[in-house]
Amino acid sequence: MTLSVRRKTMGSVISMVNMKGGVGKTTVTVNLATCLAKNHKLRVLIVDLDTQINATLSFMTPAHFAKLKQEKRTLKTLITQAVYPKNEMIFSPKEIIQQNICNIKGLDLMPGDIELYEDFVLAEMIYDHTMGKQQNYGQTWQQIEDRLIKVVLKPFLNNYDLILLDFSPGDHLITRSGILASDFYIIPAKLEPLSVIGIGILEGRIKQFKESNRTQIELLGIVLTSLGRNTKMSTNVQARLIKDFGKNILFQTEIPMNVAVARAIDECRPVVLTEPQSVGAKAFEELGEEFFKRFY
Ligand SMILES: Nc1ncnc2c1ncn2[C@@H]1O[C@H](COP(=O)(O)OP(=O)(O)O)[C@@H](O)[C@H]1O
Ligand SMILES: [Mg+2]
Repeated sequence: MTLSVRRKTMGSVISMVNMKGGVGKTTVTVNLATCLAKNHKLRVLIVDLDTQINATLSFMTPAHFAKLKQEKRTLKTLITQAVYPKNEMIFSPKEIIQQNICNIKGLDLMPGDIELYEDFVLAEMIYDHTMGKQQNYGQTWQQIEDRLIKVVLKPFLNNYDLILLDFSPGDHLITRSGILASDFYIIPAKLEPLSVIGIGILEGRIKQFKESNRTQIELLGIVLTSLGRNTKMSTNVQARLIKDFGKNILFQTEIPMNVAVARAIDECRPVVLTEPQSVGAKAFEELGEEFFKRFY
């Protein structure tokens, strides 16, 4: 049985999110995006919102990234422009987005940055906005959360079928703003208790947003990653997820541990391109098919 989703024809934004780190968010994001562009001819943009820039470095060498950073051709420029819209625009998004990355037509990347905004810049902005207005810091902060990533994505939203957001772990301004800019979310999860705690924190945050009518985001599915051999613990955790979310929310495709996946990082390309015959790559290909059926 498939889940019904409010699919938009263009520019669906999907958060790839779990508050826990190391659960495979980035690996799922880069391989899923690659499969959807390569096999289904979708126009897919990955936006790297993590200051660890793992998604960016899944597609380019650190030296290449250093050059982009030096030229200011990273997400930071767009975030700064969103925070200070009156400043002269240094680059348009088109000049920053890396197109047809790894020679895959329709696969684009918005490179992240190791620093996305300075706390004092934001504090100054909140101060400016609050002064002379009948609102407090909390309300201004909330407006920033509601608008920041939406403003960044808006100019190029309709150039894509799908926009996948990759986040750092934890509950930060950028993550909250990215969730509030999304139509859907997918949770990559490991079958271990801490991964489920990360889901609990995320669900709590999304429930809060929904209760205050700040989002209508819908869960598209949970992807189980890095499955080892079945243990009592993993069986219990899986039973817990099914109890909390229902069986249909779990993608049937599970991503196994596979050294080819880790090895791909050294080649700066996703495993579905470096070692397409590996069990890891085959699982991502299958996940791409399942996603496509579920979503389209
Ligand atoms: N299926 C897999 N097999 C082997 N290694 C994996 C697999 N998935 C992820 N990894 C490795 O595990 C680490 C964490 O994965 P990552 O996708 O970066 O997680 P997150 O983005 O949630 O922090 C990375 O070093 C990655 O290369
Ligand atoms: Mg990551």
